[in-house]
Amino acid sequence: MFLSIVLSGIQREMSMKEEILELLKAHSDYVSGQDICEQLGVSRTAIWKNINALKNEGYHIDSVNNRGYKLLSEPDVIEEKRIREYLNTRWIAKNIWYQTEMDSTNTQAKKLGEDGASNGTLVITERQTAGKGRRGKSWVSPMGNCYFSILLRPEISVDRASMITLVSALALAKTIKETEDLDTMIKWPNDVIANGKKLCGILTESSTDLEYINYAVVGIGINTNQVDFPEEIKDMASSIRRETGKEINRAKLLGTFLNVFEVYYEKFLETEDLSILLEEYNCFLVNCGKEVKIIEKEQERILTAIGIDSQGRLIVEDKNGQREKIISGEVSVRGLYGYV
Ligand code: BTN
Repeated sequence: MFLSIVLSGIQREMSMKEEILELLKAHSDYVSGQDICEQLGVSRTAIWKNINALKNEGYHIDSVNNRGYKLLSEPDVIEEKRIREYLNTRWIAKNIWYQTEMDSTNTQAKKLGEDGASNGTLVITERQTAGKGRRGKSWVSPMGNCYFSILLRPEISVDRASMITLVSALALAKTIKETEDLDTMIKWPNDVIANGKKLCGILTESSTDLEYINYAVVGIGINTNQVDFPEEIKDMASSIRRETGKEINRAKLLGTFLNVFEVYYEKFLETEDLSILLEEYNCFLVNCGKEVKIIEKEQERILTAIGIDSQGRLIVEDKNGQREKIISGEVSVRGLYGYV
């Protein structure tokens, strides 16, 4: 019954350890050693060895004399198999590249992009040693959060690439509400925040050829289960766990995000702009209808944010009702009293 497994589209024999695990998962109560021996045709010693190996991998398995074994909890890893339990996509994450540790998922995804990896390839890790943020900053990436990049090969012109970041921010806000029932907002263009603190960051990088995109890499960091933040960022950053008080199932969060992202991204590709998504995006926009400080080189101006347009530009209005459109990357937008 538990003989084969499909990973990366390739069918392979399950190891005895995987078979035992599947058997324990299929039962909510204790499974006796005798039953495992009979069902899998293995010896008691082999079961004991494999149960110990599972325990060493972080599975909590209770062993009780005369009752057998019961799986109490699984380790919190976001490897391929766990993500696939929640995945419902047609083409995103058909290929998953996972390693416990990486320098940066964006760096690895770009290498895969150069090597011809397919559209939708997902690169994911538990921690990054050289995580990259926007504007050349680093993205500190301890264990417990989500760090991943999606390799995309959109057939669109270069000037449209920055909109992928806004599509991702919208998909993140929607996913966090759906899976954790947490209300978040978007600080234009792409920071996802809760209670005024940043939860997610997005860095989109692309390789272009004259007017067209060879590939784009959208890299996302979600502060998921991090509880302590360094002094210098603790007033500006938070995690879903801190905001909800609950430990987050990262595989579920990530799988759901990929499902939502695929739908939104396809809507974006339909028109090659944000016209289908802008109404929903504007509902999440934290500064909508509020005064913001627009910081451009040495100059600071106070204007009212109205919403984004179909190109992802922020529409702002001065006191005389005069409107203008701000392009992301050219200016910084701050609330009047700090980050938001
Ligand atoms: C920001 O500065 O707000 C963007 C941060 C983006 C961080 C993510 S984590 C996964 C991916 N890999 C990276 O090196 N950076 C992005």
